[in-house]
Amino acid sequence: MKKNIILIGYMGSGKSAVGRRIASVNSMEYIDLDDYIEKKEGRSVTEIFKVKGEIYFRKCETAYLIELLDNKNNLLLSLGGGTPCFGNNINVINNLKNGISIYLKTSIVELSKRLFTERSKRPLIAHTKDNGELSEFIAKHIFERSTYYNQANYTVITDGRAIVEISDEIINLENSIN
Ligand code: S3P
Repeated sequence: MKKNIILIGYMGSGKSAVGRRIASVNSMEYIDLDDYIEKKEGRSVTEIFKVKGEIYFRKCETAYLIELLDNKNNLLLSLGGGTPCFGNNINVINNLKNGISIYLKTSIVELSKRLFTERSKRPLIAHTKDNGELSEFIAKHIFERSTYYNQANYTVITDGRAIVEISDEIINLENSIN
């Protein structure tokens, strides 16, 4: 049986695109935790933040993360950028017997470029006015979060690399430890 693969990383690091590709090549079930939360809660992430607040969103993240990991095999799970950084989530992820966690690591310059035009869809960065403000926010945010991201079982650099190349690296990695 293939191990569950959990992708972690900052917003814009490619978790969804890479996750979809690995799942399709490896015939795994693909779930994006944000999409799962939206389906279960009947609201978009932006609406949940607006109506119920971030703390409620973080509680949902933890509850649905545990629900998925307890019940699924052969799963490719892409987390939200903040998921490993709240509560006990990073330990829940890393204590899995049948799973590996992978940190998709992307530079601040690259993340700012990717996130600038689509920041309105992400409540935590929607307030930033220009690229300089966005880069500064991301730099501070990643500094706070890297202790959690760096606890992933493996780190894969994504800068300047195509989705296919990143996905193949992870597929080879998974094959080598199975
Ligand atoms: C968040 C990242 C988002 C989403 C929410 C909060 C974060 O997910 O969960 O807006 O705290 O970094 P993506 O990383 O999929 O954009």
